[in-house]
Amino acid sequence: MQRISVFFATAALMMLATLSTAHAAGDPEAGREKSQTCAACHGEKGNSQNAMYPKLAGQHPSYLYVTLKQYKSGERDNAIMSGQVTQLSDQDMRDLAAYYGSLEGDLYTLPLRDGGQ
Ligand code: HEC
Repeated sequence: MQRISVFFATAALMMLATLSTAHAAGDPEAGREKSQTCAACHGEKGNSQNAMYPKLAGQHPSYLYVTLKQYKSGERDNAIMSGQVTQLSDQDMRDLAAYYGSLEGDLYTLPLRDGGQ
């Protein structure tokens, strides 16, 4: 009997661990819902057409997440963005990073004109 309850307790713990891992990674759908204020500057799908505002679509989620945290801590100092992140929780930032990272980005790299010479 005791073995059975140990089995169920272990199974329950494993399920919890799986759930929290999925959460920690960020949920793109939740991020989409939280992105309405961001769209005003960064564009409807994160591809801002205004050079003042960086394109977020297709950037790496871990970069976006760390950047948001840096705006919040002040490590990356920008008056506009620090105002945007004050109300965001850690989970909000993970979700937003997952959402923008999942979008098709129109960023591209210019080829070196002289082959890097
Ligand atoms: C009022 C306009 C405005 C709004 C609204 C806004 N941003 Fe920004 N965002 C900016 C500007 C300007 C920058 C460039 C700041 C800098 O130079 O660090 C920026 C930069 C960023 C960057 C860094 C991009 C990079 O390539 O390094 C991220 C990530 C970001 N914003 C996410 C968001 C998210 C998520 C939201 C919504 C919660 C949001 N922004 C709302 C104007 C805005």
